[in-house]
Amino acid sequence: MLGVAYVLAAATRTSLPARADDPPDAARGMLAQVGDQLVAFGSEDGGAPLAVSDIPPHSDVVLAWPLDTARRVARNASRLNLIILMHFDPSSLSGPETARAANGIVAFTAVCSHQACWVTDWLSSKQLLQCPCHQSEYDLRQGGKVVSGPAPRGLAGLPLKVADGKLVVAGPFTDRVGGQKL
Ligand code: FES
Repeated sequence: MLGVAYVLAAATRTSLPARADDPPDAARGMLAQVGDQLVAFGSEDGGAPLAVSDIPPHSDVVLAWPLDTARRVARNASRLNLIILMHFDPSSLSGPETARAANGIVAFTAVCSHQACWVTDWLSSKQLLQCPCHQSEYDLRQGGKVVSGPAPRGLAGLPLKVADGKLVVAGPFTDRVGGQKL
């Protein structure tokens, strides 16, 4: 319970807007901001911003952190900031995902809306994303909606655009990031 409460508190704190004079450590704790680029999970500050060509179509989930482009620091101080990317055929997307995707690439928070585990398991046979903790399943082609399991709401989506071949955050998350309030 304490851990969940901490996660919720962190979600509130990290959703504050960025300021130009924020120190790098503050920038690292923030959720993705409009204009951020993305770097692959594990490459952090030194990683090259992700391009469309870095997200292969019809493969597996790519994990990424937002990249504060002004300070060149990855926003990796909170596990709530992790993002998942997948590349679909644009014609297979429906609903809000059609407008939010960039060249068929979709982005969502990696944080499950149930108890905030990272949702990382792509089920190719079902074409759904599954949470490893309690097996909630999400349909990324349909706005991240919940298909089964205890998750109370879909994954928050993150609008993308492409600039100079790189992926860029085009809008704020569509919903609150974090687990449910218990
Ligand atoms: S934390 Fe994801 S289903 Fe429970």
